[in-house]
Amino acid sequence: MLVSAKEMLEKARDGKYAVGQFNINNLEWTKSILLTAQELKSPVILGVSEGAGKYMTGYKTVVGMVNGMIEELGITVPVALHLDHGSYEGCLACVEAGFSSIMFDGSHYPIEENIQKTTELIKIANEKGMSLEAEVGSIGGEEDGVIGKGECADPDECKAVADLGVTMLAAGIGNIHGKYPENWEGLSFDTLAAIKEKVGDMPLVLHGGTGIPEDMIKKAISLGVAKINVNTECQLAFAEATRKYIEAGKDLEGKGFDPRKLLAPGAEAIKATVKEKMELFGSIGKAE
Ligand code: 13P
Repeated sequence: MLVSAKEMLEKARDGKYAVGQFNINNLEWTKSILLTAQELKSPVILGVSEGAGKYMTGYKTVVGMVNGMIEELGITVPVALHLDHGSYEGCLACVEAGFSSIMFDGSHYPIEENIQKTTELIKIANEKGMSLEAEVGSIGGEEDGVIGKGECADPDECKAVADLGVTMLAAGIGNIHGKYPENWEGLSFDTLAAIKEKVGDMPLVLHGGTGIPEDMIKKAISLGVAKINVNTECQLAFAEATRKYIEAGKDLEGKGFDPRKLLAPGAEAIKATVKEKMELFGSIGKAE
C-alpha cells in the first residue's frame, strides 16, 4: 500500500539520514527501484514529473502500475508515490488518481500567489492524508521543459511557506537539475543553515541530487535535508548500459533483441545507482 511521505521523512530528519526520491519513467524504472528498496530495507519515494506522467499515458496508469507491483513483488517497505514539480491542476489530477504525495511547485509565482495556491492544496492533501511538498526559490537547470534559474531561496519566504503546514519544503540553495556545469559554485550551506534556523523541524528537500559530491550531500543532511531527489543519474546509467549492450552487438546474438533482454542491463544499472544513493543517504535498513 502506498503511504504518505510524512512519517518516513520525520524519521529521516530525526535519524539524520535522507530518503531518496527516484523519478520513474516506465515499468523497468519502477521495478528496479522498488526491488532495490525492498532488498535494502529502505523507505523510498517514487517521483513522477508531469512529463513522465503523460509519457506513461496518465496518472491513473502510474497508480495502477505501482500498486500492482507493490502487491505482485511483495514490497513491504514504505513507498510514497509523489508528483514532482506539479502545477496546481497536476496536483488535483494526482489527488484524484490515487497518488500518496504531491509537490506543488509555485516557485515561479510571486510569493503571495505561491502561498495562496499552496494553502488551498494543503487543505486538499490533508483531507486525503497525503503529504505535500512546496518549493521556494526556483531550482536551476531544466527538467521536462521546466527551466529554473537556480537561485538561493529567501529564508523568510521559506518560513512563510513552511508555516502554512506543508509536509516538506524544497528550497533553492544553488542546486540545479541535470549535470552540474564545470564552474558550479557548489551548494550554499549558509543559505541552508539560515533556512533551517527559520523553519525549525520542517524536513527539507534537496533537488538535483545527480552529481552533488558526497561530502556536500552529507553536510546537507546534517543541516536538515531529509529527502534527496535523483533523476538524471539513473537515466545516464540506463543509457550507458544499454549503449554497451548494443555496441557489443548483443542484440544481434540469438534472441538478444527481445526487449526483456535488451532492457535488462539498463535495469540492473538503475538498481546499482539506487543502491549507491541509498548507501550515501543512509536510508538502508531504516524500513526494518
Ligand atoms: P537530477 O535530475 O539532477 O537528479 O534532479 C532530480 C530532481 O530534483 C527531481 O525533482
